[in-house]
This record gives sequence, C-alpha cells and structure tokens, in this order.
Amino acid sequence: MSTIKKVLITEEEIQAKVKEIAAQINRDYEGKELLFVPVLKGAAVFGCDLFRELTIPAKIDFLATSSYGNGTSSSGVVTVTKDIDLKLNGKHILIVEDILDSGNTLFYLKNMLESRGAESVRLCTFMQKPARLQKPITSDYNGFVIPDEYVVGYGLDYDQLYRNLKFVGVLDESVYA
Ligand code: IMP
Ligand code: MG
Repeated sequence: MSTIKKVLITEEEIQAKVKEIAAQINRDYEGKELLFVPVLKGAAVFGCDLFRELTIPAKIDFLATSSYGNGTSSSGVVTVTKDIDLKLNGKHILIVEDILDSGNTLFYLKNMLESRGAESVRLCTFMQKPARLQKPITSDYNGFVIPDEYVVGYGLDYDQLYRNLKFVGVLDESVYA
C-alpha cells in the first residue's frame, strides 16, 4: 500500500459503476444475444464482475493483446497473442477493456472483429484517459474518465503486479523511477 500515492476510485464506487453499466447493456441488448469479449489481462477483473451482472443471454470469449512491455506508455504496435475461438458471423460483440489510453488497442481490435462479419461491435471501457487519445475512437460504455496518470488496481498492472487491488490507485513514481 505504501507504493500507492493515492486512491483514485474506491471499491464502493467501482461496484456501483459496474451495476450502472450492466443496467445500460441489459437495456440496449434486450432481445439480442451478446458475445462479451474482455481483453486479457487487464480487463479480466472488470469483465468478470460486469459479466455476472448481465441478465441478457450472453456468451463470453477472451482476446489477449500485448503492446506495453514493462514501461508505462504504449509502443503503438498491437499484437494479438490469444484470439477468439467462437465464430463471429452475425454476432453482437462487446469488446471490454480496462482502459482507453492511446486508443491503439481498441482501434485495432474493433477493425479486426468488424472485418470478420460481426453484426455489431461496441466498446466498453472501465476507464478512459482522454488526454492521451491518438485514434478516432469512442467508448460506447465508459466507467470513469481519469487524468493523465499511470494507475493500477482492479485489473491494471505495473510490471504484472497490483492487478488484485480492489480499488484504482496512482502509483508512486519511486516504483518506476
Ligand atoms: P492503449 O492501446 O494505449 O489505449 O492502451 C491499452 C492498454 O494499455 C490498456 O489495456 C492497459 O493494459 C494499458 N494501460 C494504459 N494506461 C494504463 C495505466 O494507467 N495503467 C496500467 N495500464 C495501462
Ligand atoms: Mg490491457
């Protein structure tokens, strides 16, 4: 805890937001079947919490990407390291991400899934850092807009640690200095 400079989003705020987003999704996709696609590893925590709040018929599949290495800014090159197994033809897909930062990852993934014949592809992000966005992309469902600071917790890591925190915090610069 000493390496966390401040708490940005509390556990209670997260739980309330997850329910709020789920209610919107349940409303918007009423009468449809959803293919829910969290992007590993960052969205695993948010994705599984949100998935359990869905009341519409929903399947789940996972994608994994890498672009970050051990630094705190995007390399810009997105690599899919684990692809979806399910067929996408005619499916309503919701890509679920931990954070919309430069937008490189979601821009790439949205185009990739659309090109495979999905009926619709929407984006759901737990957080968004508008100051750093470099791609023409918007999130259809976003939890929190945050300032341009490197954050960890609730799925987000620094060097693969901190993903298990129940809150989102700003990491002390001493950790990566
Ligand atoms: P983008 O492609 O630059 O939009 O960023 C995509 C990925 O970068 C996210 O899915 C996160 O895994 C990672 N990322 C971006 N900002 C942060 C942060 O503040 N903390 C932890 N990971 C981050
Ligand atoms: Mg990620």
